[in-house]
Amino acid sequence: MKFFRSIRFRLVVLYWLLSNALLLVVIGIMYYRLHRGYEKISHARQREEVREFVGDAYSTREALVRFAKKDVVETNDALGHPWLFFYACDMAGKEIARSDNVPQGRMLATPEGLEEAKSTGKSTEIVKHVSKYPLLCQSIRTTLGDGTPYIAQLATSQWREVKGLENLRENIGIVVIAFALLSLLLGFALVKWSFDPVKRITKTAQSISAHDLSRRISVSGTENEIDDLAMAFNAMIDRLEDSFHKEKQFSADASHELKTPITAMRSQIELALESNRSREDYQKVLSSCLEEVNSLRAIVDALLALARHDRTDTAPPRERIPLREVLEEVCDIGRSMAEERDLSFDAKDIETDVCIPGSQHDLERLFLNLVENAVRYNKPGGRVSVVARIEDSLAVVEVKDTGLGIAEEELPLVFRRFYRGKQARSEAGGVGLGLSLCKAIVEQHDGTISAQSQPGIGSTFTVKLPAATFSGNEETP
Ligand SMILES: Nc1ncnc2c1ncn2[C@@H]1O[C@H](COP(=O)(O)OP(=O)(O)OP(=O)(O)O)[C@@H](O)[C@H]1O
Ligand SMILES: [Mg+2]
Repeated sequence: MKFFRSIRFRLVVLYWLLSNALLLVVIGIMYYRLHRGYEKISHARQREEVREFVGDAYSTREALVRFAKKDVVETNDALGHPWLFFYACDMAGKEIARSDNVPQGRMLATPEGLEEAKSTGKSTEIVKHVSKYPLLCQSIRTTLGDGTPYIAQLATSQWREVKGLENLRENIGIVVIAFALLSLLLGFALVKWSFDPVKRITKTAQSISAHDLSRRISVSGTENEIDDLAMAFNAMIDRLEDSFHKEKQFSADASHELKTPITAMRSQIELALESNRSREDYQKVLSSCLEEVNSLRAIVDALLALARHDRTDTAPPRERIPLREVLEEVCDIGRSMAEERDLSFDAKDIETDVCIPGSQHDLERLFLNLVENAVRYNKPGGRVSVVARIEDSLAVVEVKDTGLGIAEEELPLVFRRFYRGKQARSEAGGVGLGLSLCKAIVEQHDGTISAQSQPGIGSTFTVKLPAATFSGNEETP
């Protein structure tokens, strides 16, 4: 069953077993020490009491018999329980006197106890063969008035001690059972109390779907572990909501961008088919369609490249690409683009001798997009420059232009997919994917890209990529 596999159940069982085991160990130690202490005290007390009897001189056999028959009976308690037992025998073990509570034919001491008393003068032992309860038996070697040695055996009943310990064990049993029940209830209550917030989180998480990401888990403000979990969860939903929103926006923008050239082509083809046209008219329509197809292809290419970079499960090819070669290739193309628009183009220190671990194709696409923007958004007679340098084992490449510049409020938006500036929208050709692709490429190469701009003066795009020095096969980051 699910409940038996839950952490709640396991925690309760673990807590219950541990607390009860601990209680049993503590009670066990206490019981043992109490038992030993009690035994010691009661034995000492009994020895003291017995000594009083033996201290009296029983100088004749008759005195001993009288003592056994009368004095011993007087020691019975109010309930008639015998307390004192007496037995005296000569050195051969023959009975001299015996109290009535000692069965006929038995003596109090064990043969070993008797032997010990004979040889050492005294012995102490617990004996169980005389009465229902154990007896503390002391045997002492002494003499009658006429000098005849005999062994006096005095035993005291342990029934009060045995009963006391029985009582104690019963009480311990009750305490242990009550504790086991209470600790089980307390365990369930504690675990329920600590897991309620987790249940709440689970419920909220279950109610969150791709269609409704607006719900959040309430945070109690006590800054405990559950609050941390709730905050981490909420932050995750924030990111999810943001990326869902971006995804939706991206699909809408992509559809819109693809729809425009398709609609244009469709209306031109429909118009051309309405009546008979001249050969030149058809050629015009076809070349205009070709333009739209080219623009469609550019959009699809950019979308595919972005999709490829968005995939986190495929690592980009990691080759050692000499930065100089990439920049030379890009600058050659950039120079001819600049010439076409009467712009000057210069490249500084692009022969920087470092390698970038990554993909040549992607790196070329990155810098070409930046140079293309610098040319496209420039002013007549303006300048485009590419500068490279090394800074703290980073290759820093700046693409500068003296063009239109970007307004301050637009700067954070230029790396967004399909974003095109106000002025750029009037320009033909752009889709608004160039810089977002640059950002994706830079991030995949563990680098950064940033933009500074002053409207009317120009813009600088700075790319920083981890570099490796170019020395044979060695790669030193
Ligand atoms: N060097 C620049 N100078 C001024 N504005 C720029 C510059 N580079 C980018 N921008 C602005 O940023 C916007 C986004 O640039 P991005 O390269 O992503 O798209 P695009 O150039 O419009 O289209 P494409 O997908 O063909 O590159 C541009 O539309 C333009 O407004
Ligand atoms: Mg561009």
